[in-house]
Amino acid sequence: MPSKVSCLYLLTVVCWASALWYLSGSRPSTSYVGQIAIPIRKVPPKLAKNATLSNIRTRSLNPHNFRYLINEPAKCKGFDPFLVILISTTHKEFDARQAIRETWGDESAFSDTRIVTLFLLGQNLDPVLNQMVKQESQIFHDIVVEDFVDSYHNLTLKTLMGMRWVASFCPKAHYVMKTDSDIYVNMDNLIFNLLKPSTKPRRRYFTGYVINGGPIRDMRSKWYMPRDLYPESKYPPFCSGTGYVFSADVAELIYNTSLHTRLLHLEDVYVGLCLRKLGIHPFQNSGFNHWKMAYSLCRYRRVVTVHQISPEEMHRIWNDMSSKKHLKC
Ligand SMILES: *[C@@H]1O[C@H](CO)[C@@H](O)[C@H](O)[C@H]1NC(C)=O
Ligand SMILES: *[C@@H]1O[C@H](CO)[C@@H](O)[C@H](O)[C@H]1NC(C)=O
Ligand SMILES: *[C@@H]1O[C@H](CO)[C@@H](O)[C@H](O)[C@H]1NC(C)=O
Repeated sequence: MPSKVSCLYLLTVVCWASALWYLSGSRPSTSYVGQIAIPIRKVPPKLAKNATLSNIRTRSLNPHNFRYLINEPAKCKGFDPFLVILISTTHKEFDARQAIRETWGDESAFSDTRIVTLFLLGQNLDPVLNQMVKQESQIFHDIVVEDFVDSYHNLTLKTLMGMRWVASFCPKAHYVMKTDSDIYVNMDNLIFNLLKPSTKPRRRYFTGYVINGGPIRDMRSKWYMPRDLYPESKYPPFCSGTGYVFSADVAELIYNTSLHTRLLHLEDVYVGLCLRKLGIHPFQNSGFNHWKMAYSLCRYRRVVTVHQISPEEMHRIWNDMSSKKHLKC
C-alpha cells in the first residue's frame, strides 16, 4: 500500500509531466497550404431520385448533438454587433487569448461600432485545463465551449460550433470573422475599409485568402486527405482558415448545410464545400495574408490579417501602430 505522501508525490510528478508535455507540443495551425492549381469545377454526379435516397438526404449526416459546457448566450442582448469575431483556440493558449483581448480583439475599441470577441474551445482530456479555462471565462465572459473532444482533427467541429452560436445567439450581427489565436488583425482596415459600417450590410458575402487547390495524398502531410474521404481531384475554392469574413446570414446557411454534408477534418476546405453547395463564391482579398510577414508600420497598415504572430509580437505591433497613428506612410 503506498503511503499518502508518495501518492501526493506521484500526483505532482504526473501534473508536471503533463504540463511539460502540453507546453512542448507544437501548436497546430488551422490554415491549409495546398498545391496551388488551376480550378476545374466538376459538376457533381446527379443522384437518381427515389424514396430511399431522399430519405438519406433529409436525415442528418452530422447532427452536431453537442452541449455547451460554457456559453455566453446574452453576449448580443440589446444590440446588434457590427462584427462578431470567432477565434479558434486551444486550452493552453492563455497568453494568446490575453494578448488578443488587450490588442485588436478589445470589444470596447470603437465607440459606435460594436464588436463581440469570442474564443472557441472543445473539451480537453485534462480536467485541470478545463477548470482553468472555466475560471478564465468567469473573468472575461468571452469563451464558448462545447463538449466534443478538443483536437486538431476536430477543428471543423469548432468552426461549426461558432456558426451555430452566431445563428442561435447573435443572428442580427452584420458580419462575422473566423480566425485563429496566432493572427494579427488590422481592425481599422477590416472594419472601415473593407466592411464599411456606413453601407448597407451585404448578404451571402464571403471573403478571405482564396485557395484553389487539390487534396494532398501524401500521408506525411499535415493536410493529408485520404482518397476515400474526398475522391475528387480538386477542392472548390475556399478561404484559408487563418482568417475569413462573411455576412452573418452565412453562419446559419453553413451550419444547416453541414448537417447534411460529410465532415472533413480540414475546416477551411469543409467550409468551402458548404459554400459550393450554397452557390456562394468566396471573394479574393489580398489583405488577408496566411503567411508570416515581417513587421513594418506601412506594410501592416495595408493588411487585414497576418499569420504566426506570438503574444509578445502582438503587443509590440499593436503598441507601435497605436502610437504612430499620426505618421504618414
Ligand atoms: C431506390 O434505390 C435503391 C438503391 O439503388 C433501390 O434499392 C430501391 O429499390 C430504389 N427504390 C425505389 C422506390 O425505386
Ligand atoms: C472529436 O470529437 C468527438 C466527440 O467528442 C470524439 O468522439 C472524437 O474522438 C474526436 N476526434 C478526435 C480525432 O479527437
Ligand atoms: C436552418 O435550419 C433550421 C432548422 O431546421 C430552420 O428553422 C432554418 O430556417 C434554417 N435556416 C436556413 C437559413 O436555411
